[in-house]
Amino acid sequence: MEEHSVNPVQKAGPTGGKKSREPGILKAADGIDWNEAWKMQRSQKAVIKRDVNFWDNKARDFFKKPWDSNYSDDFLKIMEPKRCWTVLDMGCGSGALAIPLAKYVRRITAVDFSPGMLELLEEQCKTKEIDNIAVIKASWEDNWTSKGIGSYDAVVASRCLVVDDLRKAIMKLHNAARERVYISTIVGDGPHDRGMYEAVGRRLTPGPDYIYTYNLLYQMGICAHLSFIKDYRQESFQDLDAAHQYYDRFLGELTNSEKVKLRCYLEDQLVARNGKWVLKYKRATRWAVMWWEKE
Ligand SMILES: C[S@@+](CC[C@H](N)C(=O)[O-])C[C@H]1O[C@@H](n2cnc3c(N)ncnc32)[C@H](O)[C@@H]1O
Repeated sequence: MEEHSVNPVQKAGPTGGKKSREPGILKAADGIDWNEAWKMQRSQKAVIKRDVNFWDNKARDFFKKPWDSNYSDDFLKIMEPKRCWTVLDMGCGSGALAIPLAKYVRRITAVDFSPGMLELLEEQCKTKEIDNIAVIKASWEDNWTSKGIGSYDAVVASRCLVVDDLRKAIMKLHNAARERVYISTIVGDGPHDRGMYEAVGRRLTPGPDYIYTYNLLYQMGICAHLSFIKDYRQESFQDLDAAHQYYDRFLGELTNSEKVKLRCYLEDQLVARNGKWVLKYKRATRWAVMWWEKE
C-alpha cells in the first residue's frame, strides 16, 4: 500500500500499524484492497435485497426464531462487559444482545433503521422492565452526529454489517468508541441453509464472510482479537404450512415451481417430534467475533 492510502486508524496508531508489522506480511496483505474485494463479492451475491421493508417484514420471524440459540450467551462471554460501560448497539435488531446485555452495563443506545425491529425491542424493555436502553432510528449511511449518536465506552455491531462500504462503516464504529469495538459476521454460508436453496433449484451465494472483514481490519492497522461462535440450529414448526411460509419468506419471491419443490423438500425433511415438526438435520452456523481496544 502506498503511504497516501494509509487511513486514519493507522495514523492514530494505538491498535497496531505499520511499525509493528513485518514488511513481508504488510506487502502480502496490501496486494489486495479488501474493501474493494468486499464490494465485488457483495455485488455478486444472489440473496435477496435487504432494505428497510425486508427487515420490517422479517422482524417477527427474527424475534420468534424457529430454533434455540446460544449466540447471545456466547457473545456476552467473549465481550466481558463492564458495569460502568455505556454501549452503542448498532444494527440492534429486536435486541438479541441489547436485552441480555442491559443488566451488565450502565446504559445502552440501540440503533437500527427498521421501525419494526425497534418496536419489538421497546416492547421487550416494557415487559421486562428494562429502563437503561434508549432507542434511535438511524442507518449506517446516516450522519450519526445529526441523529444524536455520540460516543460510548464500547461499540457493538452484531451480525449487521450489511453495508456496501465496509471500511466506512468500521470507521464509524471506531470513531464512536472510547474503549472497545466488537463486530461479528458470518463464516462461510452463515445462517443460510444450502440444502434448502439447492432443493428449490437456487444457488446460494452468501456474500463475503469474516475473512474479508478481518483482512480489512488488518489493512486498516487494527489487529483484532478473533473468536468463533458455533450456533447449532434445528428448526421446528407447528405444522408443515408454518414451515413452508417461513422458508417462503426466508428465500424470498419464490416462483410457483420453486414453491412446489420447497413443499416436497419439507415433506421429506420434516419429522414429527413432541407435537412439533422438526427438520431431520442439525446445522452448525458459525459466527466470527472480532474486537479491538482503543487507547
Ligand atoms: C441479522 S439482524 C442482527 C440483529 C442483532 N444485532 C443480532 O445480532 O441479532 C441485522 C439488523 O441490521 C439492521 N440493518 C440492516 N441494514 C441496516 C442499515 N443500513 N442501517 C441500520 N441497520 C441496518 C436490520 O434492520 C436488522 O435489525
